[in-house]
Formats: sequence, structure tokens, C-alpha cells
Amino acid sequence: MIQPVPVTLPTMSEATGETAAVTEQASTPTSRIPGFHKLSAEQRIDRIAAFAGMGQEHREQLSAPSNIDPHLGDHMIENFVTTIAIPVGIATNLRVDGRDVLVPMATEESSVVAAVGNSARQCYDSGGFTTSMSGTEMIAQIQLLDVPDPHHARLRILERRDEIAQVCDACDPVLVRLGGGFRELDVRLVDTPTGTMVIVHIVVDTRDAMGANAVNTMAERLAPSIARWTGGRTLLRILSNLADRRVARARATWSVDAIGGTHVRDAMVAAYQFADNDPYRAATHNKGIMNGVSAVVLATGNDTRAVEAGAHAYAARTGRYRSLSTWEVTADGALAGTIELPLAVGLVGGAVKIHPTARALLGIIGVSTAAELARIIAAVGLAQNFGAMKALATEGIQKGHMSLHAQNIAFSAGATGEEVGEVARRLVADATINEEAAARILATLRGR
Ligand code: MEV
Repeated sequence: MIQPVPVTLPTMSEATGETAAVTEQASTPTSRIPGFHKLSAEQRIDRIAAFAGMGQEHREQLSAPSNIDPHLGDHMIENFVTTIAIPVGIATNLRVDGRDVLVPMATEESSVVAAVGNSARQCYDSGGFTTSMSGTEMIAQIQLLDVPDPHHARLRILERRDEIAQVCDACDPVLVRLGGGFRELDVRLVDTPTGTMVIVHIVVDTRDAMGANAVNTMAERLAPSIARWTGGRTLLRILSNLADRRVARARATWSVDAIGGTHVRDAMVAAYQFADNDPYRAATHNKGIMNGVSAVVLATGNDTRAVEAGAHAYAARTGRYRSLSTWEVTADGALAGTIELPLAVGLVGGAVKIHPTARALLGIIGVSTAAELARIIAAVGLAQNFGAMKALATEGIQKGHMSLHAQNIAFSAGATGEEVGEVARRLVADATINEEAAARILATLRGR
């Protein structure tokens, strides 16, 4: 049995030398902090520093300036204390639908940005990426329980289509003015161990908004009428992240010369077949795709979790979890890749609108619609997948990873400035990349 470990928290004055008033709070290691939400970010940091017995260095790190104003942070989320900066790199060499684009990617993982740039370079001369999008429609679901006659009720709801359209559109006249609004109604019967549920889908074109707020409002507004019409009880009213009315697609071909021969091409096709037929491999293959997708989604202030949930649910839409991409050989022997995944991203609303860095980064991509952004993200996902598969099917993933990984290790061992590159170079040359080796190399360098 695991025994609880007694924790003695140092007082604030021991830890940071700060005031006695805060010291008293520090002596009570409780997560119950009434009024925490009413404090300023700095006051909250004081309280958590006391709670955690935080030293001055960490305390100051939490207060370090970031590229969002603390007041904005406080409006974006609750109990805001600080920000955590994620490096943003720019993927180069992308040509999407005949236009050259530079794409910002926010990621903590080394090799991700470089892989997209390298993969895009290798298909640049064969035209780059061609993309399309199924639409910008989101689905909201309304769950009905205890409906005595589900089949009959289903038709009664469908008969009210026009009334439902009116209620939905009245919730968001601005969206309607911009060409969006209610599009379709669907009613499904879902059998569960506790009985048949009637599930209403409202399909709404949310245009340049991700649309969660718009469709959730509509679902909540409609629910009482639907309960009345069916004699049932409504429970959940929420969007579906399986945004299969918002699927972005990208395709590209890589010539055999560009990728280094038919053996590389054939190995990549075999790697894809493995992923498409084995969920254990598909999870990792799709994770690689999401390395690219999520990095752009995050850099543009969009909802990474929504996109990830949608992508993985879509990958399992046939009942088996499969690859989000396909790879095959064209009639003239080139390697052809495609990708399709739901991409519910927006250009207006939420963090996209108010995060100044996201706005600046979006400016680099230079898109004017959410659909264009989604299509570029799909191209990045395909490029990322190409890069990972090519590395895995040839030299293995570690070689490419190692030089940046070695730099991270050099940093952790305390290297600064030009030392970082030198320590990393020697770590790779010695083929032993760990902090102990880095510390040894650093000591040697400094001893000179
Ligand atoms: C690592 O973050 C991503 C890969 O595992 C993707 C893949 O295996 O295809 C390299």
C-alpha cells in the first residue's frame, strides 16, 4: 500500500523572504482559498507561492512579462496567474493551392517545424498542396429521454423544420447576415442500455467562427420546444466535436527523385498500410499528423482539444481506428498522399480575436476565411505525416531528433550562448545524449 508522504511546507518568509501576513497563509496547506478569484494575478501568485513553498526564482518566473497583458489573461480564463510560453516556429516552403504561405507553428517538440518545411520542399516543384473543404457547418445535439414513442416523435420533430430554422437563425442575426445560419435538421434514434434516446442534430453554417457558442445557444434555445413537441425530457444540449460537415482535405504528390528512389516510396506506402490496418500504429501515425495540425491550431488561438477530438473520432468513423491520411503510387510512379479531417477553426470569436500574438501570427498566414485556414492546416498535417513516415521508413526517427534534443539537454545541463551548440555537437558525436554527459562536456569546455 502506498503510504501518504508527510509534507511540511516552508513558510513564505523562509521561501521568499516576503511579508508575515502571507506567511500565515502559507502555514495552512489547503486548496480551499475563498476569494481566490477576486485577487489580482500577483496576489494569486503570492498565495500559490506560499502554498507550494516556492523559492524566489520560481516566484519571479511566474510574474515574468509575457506577450499577453495580465488583464487580458484574467478575462480569458478564471484564477489567472501567469502564462507558459511555447516556442513558435515558421514552416517554410509551403505552396498551397498555387500560393506560397509561411505557417506559424506553436510546439514544444523539436523537429516538428523542420519536418514540415523539408516535406514541403520535396513537393514544391510538383505543385505543392491542393486543398478543399466540405463546408463550414457545425452540428449541435439535443438529447431527449423518456420519449414514449421515439419513431413517431422523430417525424414530429422533422415536420417542424421551418420553425426550428427560424428559432436558430433568430439566435444569431449577425451570423445570418454574414451568410451563415441554420442549414439542416436530422433526428437520430440511439439505442442505449437505458432505453432509446431521441437525438436531434441541428446543422448550422458558422462561416468564419469556430461556432461553439453559436450552436450551443441555438440548442439551448430550442430544447424546451422540442421537449414539449415530443413529451420527452431534454438533457444535454451541446455541439459535437465530430465536425464531419467541416472536413478539410489536402493532397500532394512527391516525385521519386525528390524523395530519394522507389525503395523509399515503397517503404513509405508499406508504413502507411501498417498504420491503416493496425490501430496501435494508427494512433502514433495520427499523433504525428496532429503534431503539425495542433501546432498551427494553437498558434492561431484556436481550440486544439476540439480539433484533436474531432480528428480521432473521424479516424474511427468506420468502426475501426484508421489512418487520417492515405499513401499510394500514381500511374507515373510518384508518391501520392491525401489527408481528410474535421477542422473546426475560426478567425473570429474567442482567443483568436483577442489574443494579440494569435492575431499577429494569423497575419503571417494571410487568410481571409476560416475555411482557407483549415485547408492550410490540412496541408501542414499531410506534410508532417510525410516527414515522419519518410524518416521512420528510412533512417529512423532518432537521427533527425537528436541534434535538437541534444540542444535541449545542453540547456538543461546549464549551457548558455555558444556553449549550447558545442555541447550538443559533442553529445551527438559521442552518441550519448543525457544530462550527465552534457554536464561533463560543459565542465571540460569551461575548464579550458
Ligand atoms: C512523434 O512526435 C511523432 C511520430 O511518432 C509520428 C509517427 O510515428 O508517424 C514520429
